[in-house]
Amino acid sequence: MRYILTIIGTVVLAVSLVALGFSFKQVNQERATLTTNLEQRASLLSDSLKESVEPYYANSSQASLKTSLQKIVDKFANRERIVGIALYDTQGVLIASSMGLPKAIIGNGGIVSEAMDSNKFNDNFLDADGETRYVHVDPLHNEESIVGALMVVQNAGYINTDINQIWKGNLLRLLIQIIIFSITIFIILRFFVFRQVLRLVESAKKVRMGGVNEAFKTDGKYSFFTPLAKEITYITKSLSQARLSAKEEARMRLEKLDTPWTAERLSEFTKAHLKDRPIFVVSNREPYEHYNLKGKIDYKVPASGMITAIEPVVEACGGTWIAWGSGDADKQTVDKDNKIKVPIQEPKYTLKRIWLSEKEVDGFYKGFSNEAIWPLCHMVHTRPLFRKEDWHEYKKVNEIFAKNVLEEIKDVPNPLILIQDFHLALLPHIIKIKRPDAQIGIFWHIPWPSPEAFGVCPWRNEILQGMLGADIIGFHIQQFCNNFINTVGKEMESLCDLEQFAVTYRNHTSYIKSFPISIAFTGSDNDILYDANTGKKFLEKLDIHTKYVGFGVDRMDYTKGLLERFKAIEFFLDTYPTYKENFTFLQIASPSRESVPKYKQFSEEVIKEAERINDKFKTKTWEPIVLVRKHHSHEELGPLFKVADVCMVTSLHDGMNLVAKEYVAARDDENGVLILSKFTGAVRDLKGAIIVNPYSAEETSEAINTALNMTLPEKQKRMKKMREAVKNYNVYRWSAEFIRAVTNLS
Ligand code: G6P
Repeated sequence: MRYILTIIGTVVLAVSLVALGFSFKQVNQERATLTTNLEQRASLLSDSLKESVEPYYANSSQASLKTSLQKIVDKFANRERIVGIALYDTQGVLIASSMGLPKAIIGNGGIVSEAMDSNKFNDNFLDADGETRYVHVDPLHNEESIVGALMVVQNAGYINTDINQIWKGNLLRLLIQIIIFSITIFIILRFFVFRQVLRLVESAKKVRMGGVNEAFKTDGKYSFFTPLAKEITYITKSLSQARLSAKEEARMRLEKLDTPWTAERLSEFTKAHLKDRPIFVVSNREPYEHYNLKGKIDYKVPASGMITAIEPVVEACGGTWIAWGSGDADKQTVDKDNKIKVPIQEPKYTLKRIWLSEKEVDGFYKGFSNEAIWPLCHMVHTRPLFRKEDWHEYKKVNEIFAKNVLEEIKDVPNPLILIQDFHLALLPHIIKIKRPDAQIGIFWHIPWPSPEAFGVCPWRNEILQGMLGADIIGFHIQQFCNNFINTVGKEMESLCDLEQFAVTYRNHTSYIKSFPISIAFTGSDNDILYDANTGKKFLEKLDIHTKYVGFGVDRMDYTKGLLERFKAIEFFLDTYPTYKENFTFLQIASPSRESVPKYKQFSEEVIKEAERINDKFKTKTWEPIVLVRKHHSHEELGPLFKVADVCMVTSLHDGMNLVAKEYVAARDDENGVLILSKFTGAVRDLKGAIIVNPYSAEETSEAINTALNMTLPEKQKRMKKMREAVKNYNVYRWSAEFIRAVTNLS
C-alpha cells in the first residue's frame, strides 16, 4: 500500500506542477488583456471629454467655469465602470469632481502635476477604500498652452475578480483530475500489477517451502508478466527436482556416517528414525526475540552459541521449541496458545513462548543461572554467588517449564525431548517422574568443572539429581564427561559404570556422552557465501583503512578473554612497532546479561582498556582497537570474517566456541588465520589454528605476528584442514548422533 501511495503521490505532484504552470501563464495573459482594454477605454473617454471641456477653459470667466464644468462632470460620471471624473486648473487645484470619488484619489496631486509637467497623459492603478481603481489623467489645452487637467477614474476591481475566477476554475479542474488519476493509478497498480506480482511471489514462496510444484499463473488478459512467470516456473521446476534428488541422495546416504551431513539428510534421518514422532526442544533463550522499535515490531536472533547450533537442526526436523519469551513485543506476536511459526520469513517449526515475571527472571536467570552456575562451571576466577532466594526461583521456573512441556506432550506417546543448557538442569527429573515414557536428552553447552570445583555449590545434589532424569547427558568434550561422572561419583549414592559411561541412580540409567557441537556448514554449494566487498565497505564505514585487520566477535562476557586479547595487542604493537598504522583490531562485542553487575563492570573495564591502549598508540588517522558494542546478525558478521586477516578467539574457558567455526566456514577463499585459545572445546576440532594460552600476552602477541607473516600456501593448508573438520562434523551430524543416542536406548 505504501508503494501505491508513493507512486500516486509522485504522479499527482507532477500533474499539479504542470497544471499550475499553465494556469499561471493563462492568468498573466488574461490580466494583460483586461488591463489593455481598460486603458484603451479610459483613453477614448478622456479624448471625447477633452473636446467638451477645453472650450470652457478658454471662454468662461473664473466664476462661471466651476459651475459649467461641474455640469459636464455630472453628465458623464454615470457611465459604466466609471467611478468618476475630476477637473483641475493649471495649479493642480480641483475645480470640479463627480460625487463619491475617494479623496485619496482626487487629492493625489502628484499624478495630475506629472501629466501637466510632461504634457502627456499619465495613468496608474491606485487603491482606495479597499478597492483598486484605474486613474487616467490628461492635460487640457487652450491653443498650445496647458490650462488644466482631466482625470478619469475607472473601476479596476473586476480584473482581480476575473483572475480569481480563472484560478478557482483551474484548481477545481485540477482537483477532479487528481481524483480521477489517483483512482485510475490505484486500480492499475493494485489489480493489474501488484496482484499479479503478489501471485507470483506467493507461488514462488509455496515452491520454496516445498509446496506443490505448480506452474505460475497470471491473469490471462493482462498478462504482461507471462514471460516472467514462465521463467520462474522453469526455475522452480529445477529447484524441486534438485530437492528431490537431494532427498533421494540423503536417503541413500542415511546409514553411512562418513558422508557429509546436510539439512535434507538430517530431515530424512529423523523421518526414518522417529517415524513421525515430533521433537520438542526446550531452552531458556528463544531463537527469535520480537521487540518494539520506534513504534514498529521487529525481531532479532539473539547472540547465543546454543541458538546458532540448535536453530538449523529444528529448521530441518520441524517440531516445537519451548522457550522463555524475553522480547518486549513477544506477547504481541503469538497466538492464543502463546505460539508463533518461525523462521518468520519461512516458517518451519513452532516456537512456544513461556512468560516469566520480573521476580522469576531476577532469581532464575540473572541470579542462579548467571551468577551461580555460569561462574561455577567456567574456570575464570569469578566467584559464584549462591543465594537461597535465587535457588528458590530457579526451582520454580524449572517447574513452570516442566508444566508447559507436559502440556505440550500430553497426547504424544514416547515424546522425544531435547533440553538445552544449564538453565534447565532440574527439568529432566521433573518430566521423567511424570512421563517415564518420555525420551529425554539434556545437552550442557558450557564446561562441566572438576568435582572439587562443583562441590562448593550448596544445591549440588538437587542439580545432579535433576540432570540424572535424562536418558542422555551430553557435553562438548570427553573431559567434561569425565568431570561429570566423577562429580556424580563423589556426590551421589549411585552406580557409575566407567565402561559404558553410565550412571544408575534410583533405578534409572543415564548415559554420559560427548557430542562436539558445531554449525550448519556442509561445504557444498548450499552454504551461504559472504561477499568480501560488503566487509570492506563495513570497514570503511568504521574508518578502518589499515593493510591488516584483526577481528573478534563475542558476547560481552568475562569468560571470553577480551581484556587479555587487548593486552596481547598492546604487547604486539610494543614488540613490532612497524605494525603501528598498519594493523587495526576490530572487536564486535554484543551486549550481554547487562543487568548482572559483573557483566556491567566487565563491560566498563573493556571500554577503559581499549581507550587506554588507543591513547597510548593512536595517531591522527589511526587507532589500534575499534570496539563496537552492538549486536550483529550472522549476515552482517559473515562479510567481516571474509576480510579479517586474522580472527582471535581467546576465551579463558569455553565449552566449544562456535565463532571459531563460523570464521572457518566463512573463508571459502581458504585465506585468513585463526588464533584460538587452548581453553576452548573447539581447539580439539580445529587443528589448523594457532593455539594460544590467552593468559600469556607474549604468546598471543607472537601468534598475531606469525599470523600476519604466514605465507598464503600455509594459510590455505591450515584453513582447508579446519574447513574439512567442520564440514565432517557439522551440527546436522551432531544432532543426528544426539537424537540417535537418546532414541536408541529404549
Ligand atoms: C551461552 C549459553 C547459551 C546462552 C548464551 C547467551 O552460549 O550456553 O545457553 O543462550 O550463552 O546468553 P543469554 O544469557 O543471553 O541467553
